[in-house]
Amino acid sequence: MLFMTRLIISLGLCCTFMACRAQTPSKWYTPFPYTHTKVAEGDSAMVVSAHPLATQTGIDILRKGGNAIDAAIAVHFALAVVYPQAGNIGGGGFMLYLPKDGNPVSLDFREKAPAAATEKMYLDSAGQVIAQKSRYGPLASAVPGSVDGMWKAHQRFGKLNWGELIQPAVDLARKGYQITTQEAENLNREKRMFVRNSSIVPDFVKFDDWKAGDWLLQRDLANTLDRISADGRAGFYEGATAALLQHEMEAKGGLITTQDLANYSSTWRKPLEFDHNGYHVITMGPPSSGGILLEQMLGMIAPYPITQYGFHSAAAVHLMAEAERRAYADRAQYLGDPDFVKIPVKGLLDSAYLAKRMASFNDKKSTESANLGPGIPKESEETTHFVVIDTDGNAVSITTTLNDTYGCRTVVAGAGFILNNQMDDFSAKPGASNLYGAVGGKANAIAGNKRPLSSMTPTLITQNNKIWMALGTPGGTTIPTSVFQVLVNVWYFGMTLPEAVQAKRFHHQWRPDHISIEEGALPEAVMQSLEKMGHIIQPRTPIGRVEAVMRLPNGHWQGVADTRGDDTTQGY
Ligand code: GLY
Repeated sequence: MLFMTRLIISLGLCCTFMACRAQTPSKWYTPFPYTHTKVAEGDSAMVVSAHPLATQTGIDILRKGGNAIDAAIAVHFALAVVYPQAGNIGGGGFMLYLPKDGNPVSLDFREKAPAAATEKMYLDSAGQVIAQKSRYGPLASAVPGSVDGMWKAHQRFGKLNWGELIQPAVDLARKGYQITTQEAENLNREKRMFVRNSSIVPDFVKFDDWKAGDWLLQRDLANTLDRISADGRAGFYEGATAALLQHEMEAKGGLITTQDLANYSSTWRKPLEFDHNGYHVITMGPPSSGGILLEQMLGMIAPYPITQYGFHSAAAVHLMAEAERRAYADRAQYLGDPDFVKIPVKGLLDSAYLAKRMASFNDKKSTESANLGPGIPKESEETTHFVVIDTDGNAVSITTTLNDTYGCRTVVAGAGFILNNQMDDFSAKPGASNLYGAVGGKANAIAGNKRPLSSMTPTLITQNNKIWMALGTPGGTTIPTSVFQVLVNVWYFGMTLPEAVQAKRFHHQWRPDHISIEEGALPEAVMQSLEKMGHIIQPRTPIGRVEAVMRLPNGHWQGVADTRGDDTTQGY
């Protein structure tokens, strides 16, 4: 085994130093520059994802007769190749599936802490959090869940052959594809981090800088995908891939063992469901905080005449930010892995409880987070989202991630995939903030085999028992507020879906105590009014990249891809 591992690694090294990553292959074509279609309409099927080649992959599978699950699996593996900042096989995520005439299901393929993980593993001897220890290098990585998740979904609902769904990703990895401006900039920015955190120089590193249109070839990744194609989950969690991953752990100091990999299992869970505004919302429950936050925030604003206040008026932003503040205070206190902690879900979502949480709301003054703890009910940036609707009307909504952009920046030598840094989504210490500035407590403390709290909010919405909308977004802790704001824009401010998705967003997460806003989101006068109420306004980079599909009154599907990235939709 050791020999095989070394052989595969040296082949990987050899390939790397032969600069195989930036050659232009002769008989392979990707349609560069890509067309980034932001709004599409189709009467049969729709795909929206973060990359045009992944969207095209999904459409190809649907046209071959694949169902929504087949197309989603193919998109997931394609994103692992063409969108390495978040698409992954070394990460995890959540899937929501609504079969046309069946019950919704959710699949939790969130990563798990390695068995040897301990509550204080990121603290120094004085009990202080060691900066960046939970963010970079293999020690930041939890046991990946994506391959097991895709495998499980295929076993239960897939129609086409497993290998057929992975082949497009294998081809994109082995024959290469041309990178976009955004990807080139991201890879150039992270070059040093990849080198520092990996035991070999990965395919993502080019000594002279990447530029748009350069070809990226990932032959080690193609070989790993071949193993997954041939052997299913065992092609990742056992054999050569598992041995390569363990070797990387030993070389760079991580905890994941082959036993952790063998033990990993994704889990079918009951989705979180609630009614709002005449619609039925199906979303993700713990270990994601997303669904609970979404229901809480929508519930907290429901009694107020927000439509009258007007879109992005001071009154509307104040109300929504105050609801966000209260929901995130509860998140910090109560939410974690339901297999480890008891979460008072019913109490947190009770309408009387939500009304009580808003009792301290003052329509003229912000509530200081320092004076607002969690409530007492009676009883967790770079991620990617995609949506597939097939010709039968089956709908899939998946959010998947490596956590931070390119995860922990460790590429498994010889296997070519990037590892997540999902351990940073745990609370390293009560009150200590993570990558997203979010704080947490005991409920989200680190423990072996536990899942870190997430914010991912894949959502499906029905009307009269028929799928009406599917949506989700990346963005760490901003995910629930982005989904919340898109829905409020449609339901309460009368926007079309493209308007609602492209509208600028803002975000409050209790701590830090400020409203972060996208550049130019709010007029100067509105910002001044909010500041007079006591709010602190903090401009920031774009918030989220929402992908959504909605059924139009004419029965057609409308796909909407966020203008904030390379996201693309296609339908037919
Ligand atoms: N890693 C981001 C999230 O799960 O919310």
